[in-house]
Amino acid sequence: VIDIRSLYAKTGAFTFDPGFMSTAACKSAITYIDGDKGELLYRGYAIEQLATNCDYLETCYLLKNGELPSKAQYDVFTKTVREHTMVHEQLTRLYQGFRRDAHPMAILVGMVGSLSAYYQDSLDIANPEHRDVAAMRLIAKLPTITAMAYKYTIGEPFMFPRNDLDYSSNFLHMMFATPCEKYEPNPVLARALDRILILHADHEQNASTSTVRLAGSSGANPFACIAAGIACLWGPAHGGANEACVAMLEDLMAQGGVEKIGEFIAKVKDKNSSVKLMGFGHRVYKNYDPRAKLMRETCHEVLNELGLQDDPMFKLAMALEKIALEDEYFVSRKLYPNVDFYSGIVQKAMGIPVSLFTGIFAMARTIGWIAQWNEMIGDPEQKIGRPRQLYTGAPHRDVKPMAFR
Ligand code: ACO
Repeated sequence: VIDIRSLYAKTGAFTFDPGFMSTAACKSAITYIDGDKGELLYRGYAIEQLATNCDYLETCYLLKNGELPSKAQYDVFTKTVREHTMVHEQLTRLYQGFRRDAHPMAILVGMVGSLSAYYQDSLDIANPEHRDVAAMRLIAKLPTITAMAYKYTIGEPFMFPRNDLDYSSNFLHMMFATPCEKYEPNPVLARALDRILILHADHEQNASTSTVRLAGSSGANPFACIAAGIACLWGPAHGGANEACVAMLEDLMAQGGVEKIGEFIAKVKDKNSSVKLMGFGHRVYKNYDPRAKLMRETCHEVLNELGLQDDPMFKLAMALEKIALEDEYFVSRKLYPNVDFYSGIVQKAMGIPVSLFTGIFAMARTIGWIAQWNEMIGDPEQKIGRPRQLYTGAPHRDVKPMAFR
């Protein structure tokens, strides 16, 4: 590792690294990825153990505070989250300004950004108490805001949070309950959702987290920074990949399914086409993404619970994975399934609309963003993020009067 900052100070040398392929923009003690091994640790704990033994709020506590909670700490933490699940009444009216057919991510970017207008008592970033309250508000309110975005687009009344339920069951309630019918969240589906949230909770300096840090480096408030992260996450090369992956599988099913995989893979490999195998490939993992393995397991569990063992989309995805993993194109480029390859299938089976997949990713990643933002604020080495460039434009020239141009 070269400390380019001190090299720059001594010699003026700087690096050209578009896409940050080989540049660390910060030090962080939160998440570790070994891309060659396919290993992911949150605060030193393997993702497999966390996904098996912990719930999402335990994971949030860990990412935020650095250690897993004791029972007493967990109780206080979950109680605080429950106290913040409601949103300001005025904010509920803000939804009315959006078109009903707006993409939920468009609504989320706006709604989360607007929290800075409603919760002005937690905007002082130099005050650790303000930072803490803002963090708890974000963790608690994201499910409410996300479910409300969904209810708004389908024209159903908003459902109040139910604080007697755990985090994921409460989200299912706000999504699928209506005032006129009794609804009890299915515990298998709630546990599956919890696992999805754990698997997406943090992933070191990905594009959206780097966006949150860059926005935060200017001193912007946490709600504005998280809104910036949501905007970045929306892109199909990042959080939008699960939505794009389901669209790809649906398209392939419409064309004939498993029998058409060969033709499809040929298109992906054709350098003149822009077709990609969505849900495959990763900037850091050059091995199987450990989250994808867990997600495939969860997919089995959910489909069994719902009696959908023969789900054609799941079968198609497994066949596609098998063929791709044996194909020289994918093998030589070390392209493996990433977390998004199976997450869309699970969510679709649970009844979550495709357009909300990335919103659920945002909900899950909020804890990672806020933990990273908090770490950055407390880092004495942190400066405003300000990448340099290699200028390729015109040399210095004089403005001619318009008549001579
Ligand atoms: N399908 C086909 N070819 C691919 C794919 C893919 N999904 N991913 C990478 N490649 C190829 C590239 O064309 C390139 O080939 P080349 O060397 O012949 O030019 C090579 O593999 C290297 O790929 P890059 O694009 O340079 O890798 P990069 O690290 O920049 O991109 C990314 C990573 C954006 C994730 C890419 O693999 C991709 O677009 N995948 C599909 C979208 C996706 O699933 N995104 C989710 C990422 S995980 C997440 O955000 C939670």
